[in-house]
Amino acid sequence: MSNQQTFLRDAMRRLNMTREAFATRIGVSRRALDTWLLPDDSQESRSMPEIVERFVSEILQHQTETTQSVHKHQSLADAIAFEGRPQLLSVDQFSRESVEALFLVADIMQPIARRQKISRVLEGAVLGNLFFEASTRTRVSFGAAFCRLGGSVCDTTGFTFSSMAKGESIYDTSRVMAGYVDALVVRHPEQGSVAEFARATNIPVINAGDGPGEHPSQALLDLYTIQREFSRLGKLVDGAHIALVGDLKYGRTVHSLSKLLALYKGIKLTLVAPPGLEMPSYVIERLGKHDMVIEQTDDLEKGLAGADVVYATRIQKERFQNESFEGYRPDFQINKALIDSACGADTMIMHPLPRDGRPDANDLSTDLNLDPRLAIFRQTDNGIPVRMAIFATLMGVDGQVQRSMRDATWRRPAMVGPDDAVFHGID
Ligand code: NCD
Repeated sequence: MSNQQTFLRDAMRRLNMTREAFATRIGVSRRALDTWLLPDDSQESRSMPEIVERFVSEILQHQTETTQSVHKHQSLADAIAFEGRPQLLSVDQFSRESVEALFLVADIMQPIARRQKISRVLEGAVLGNLFFEASTRTRVSFGAAFCRLGGSVCDTTGFTFSSMAKGESIYDTSRVMAGYVDALVVRHPEQGSVAEFARATNIPVINAGDGPGEHPSQALLDLYTIQREFSRLGKLVDGAHIALVGDLKYGRTVHSLSKLLALYKGIKLTLVAPPGLEMPSYVIERLGKHDMVIEQTDDLEKGLAGADVVYATRIQKERFQNESFEGYRPDFQINKALIDSACGADTMIMHPLPRDGRPDANDLSTDLNLDPRLAIFRQTDNGIPVRMAIFATLMGVDGQVQRSMRDATWRRPAMVGPDDAVFHGID
């Protein structure tokens, strides 16, 4: 995609404007704007005049200053602090303004995440990655994000090989680790346990999943992905119809994501779960306090109809207590036939991954792999800039990143995945 198209799409996303509203704001016809947004090889494509570019840049500059002035007397880290400390335990710590401010930091991180630039703002800092539960992408993406800012990572995985298996308390483990490292990322099978870790130390602690509780960094990268994809499609998050599908009872990613979406206006949320695996009532009660329409069903075809986003999740069998296998049904699979019949050409299909890719699994089918609506790898890619933004913010270097950047010198492929769509190439 040319710079012109990226520039205009980014501008619309940052300003939260539809094409129509944006064209009006910058005083051009909708048709002119459309021609500037067309791919370079299209016959109708036109270059936008330089004066328009300057005007849009000024509007963006003004908007950035306004967003920053929301926190004039307070840094972003202070605005989202957990009990006064720079820690991230729940999406409840965010307002719409602070989410948008974090996404601006994530945007700054994109050239580093895409391996065009390097930065060493966290040089000398050490991250402790403590995963007492299974993980691949969350652990590695937190580690890679920290390394890409110049820090180093110490990892531990599994419960059996940790001192907790010898009866050590969370308090002791947390205090000991705080003497070794400068920030902690913790995943633990019990809800509320990561907050216990956080209370036992003053260093930054990030919740990477506390049992069926929350997974705030996943929800942030999900919302960031929705915003970026919507800007390409000319849609806004406000007023969107989002279907959350699968094990909504134990899936922590949907608990965090639904609460984050509640910060936006006029969202319609359709909750599609097999009987027995519905969204917990404490989450629904919280959502009910917001300007949000909530519908619940166990009928996949009905629930997906007209959705702008289908967010599928895995059945969390490892957390089942009395549910046995009642959540399993032969017809509960999101596959190409279902998406083609219930959804439109603009529907985004998301999943936090891992998905159960076996042929009859009650999960997101692999037959959608080459479908451009499938956003799952764009989602995982966005995990890096978002997690970099979280670290930079909590560790107080978010303001230094921009001027710290140098060119990356190693050779990199034009696209990281062989089937990636053009708009998601590295450049
Ligand atoms: C999820 C998790 O651990 O909650 N994975 C992830 O972090 N992306 C989802 C899952 O395990 O199903």
